Amino acid sequence: MDGNGRWARGRFMPRIWGHKRGADSVREVVKCAASMGVKVLSLFAFSDENWGRPQDEVSALMGLFDQYLQFETDQLLKQNIRLRFMGNIDRLPEKTRSLLLGAAQKLSACDGMTLNLAVSYGARAEITEAVRAIARNVREGIIDPEHVCESMVAGGLASAGMPDLDLVIRTSGEQRLSNFMLWQSSYAELYFTKVLWPDFGKAAFKAALEEFSTRQRRFGLVSVEPALGVSSSLGRMGEEPSGKTPC
Ligand code: IPE
Ligand code: MG
Repeated sequence: MDGNGRWARGRFMPRIWGHKRGADSVREVVKCAASMGVKVLSLFAFSDENWGRPQDEVSALMGLFDQYLQFETDQLLKQNIRLRFMGNIDRLPEKTRSLLLGAAQKLSACDGMTLNLAVSYGARAEITEAVRAIARNVREGIIDPEHVCESMVAGGLASAGMPDLDLVIRTSGEQRLSNFMLWQSSYAELYFTKVLWPDFGKAAFKAALEEFSTRQRRFGLVSVEPALGVSSSLGRMGEEPSGKTPC
């Protein structure tokens, strides 16, 4: 969710104004995704790197999270949306952390869409933590190093139990992943739009899904060409790769 600052600057307003309008986009996109049957929506709300922003901006962002969690939890409950989060939440202010934990708890029985908030999140830190846990188990003799496999790493990530990403949307014209769910986006379709996040509403989200639906996903395999009878020990297009190292 990028471009809040530029959106505000373009209107000669303070950056925080852009973040406030960005929160409106979050509300709209969450509602739209849930109503369209999206199973998991992950939002990169605050990165590990964002802690380096000026203190007043960080505090204002934390204040906005607090407001969102305080006032949206009941709405999320009504929409049967479950809340999960990823990231180093120990760095969050006490109030924000407890609101986040409280909201996740309150919504834990919901079985509609999962809203996965990445807060104080960085993919490298997440992968490092998973590797550290595996290393501990190796040291204890619980795991043979030769048996360390991809599923084990995936299971140690904060996203454990959630599917890999199908589509990554980046707003504001930037074309990079910026340390977002690097493991989980291995086979994701990437969608870049110039629209700034505060302008990214229902219509823009639907346009992204529309474009996604036209993508051919091969997962490193080949398209099946029935006319030539090429079928496939290689697997069919559209299936997840099955070549993951078994555990
Ligand atoms: C993204 O918008 C919002 C957060 C990081 C929370 P930015 O604040 O990065 O907006 P730009 O990139 O300065 O326009
Ligand atoms: Mg930015």
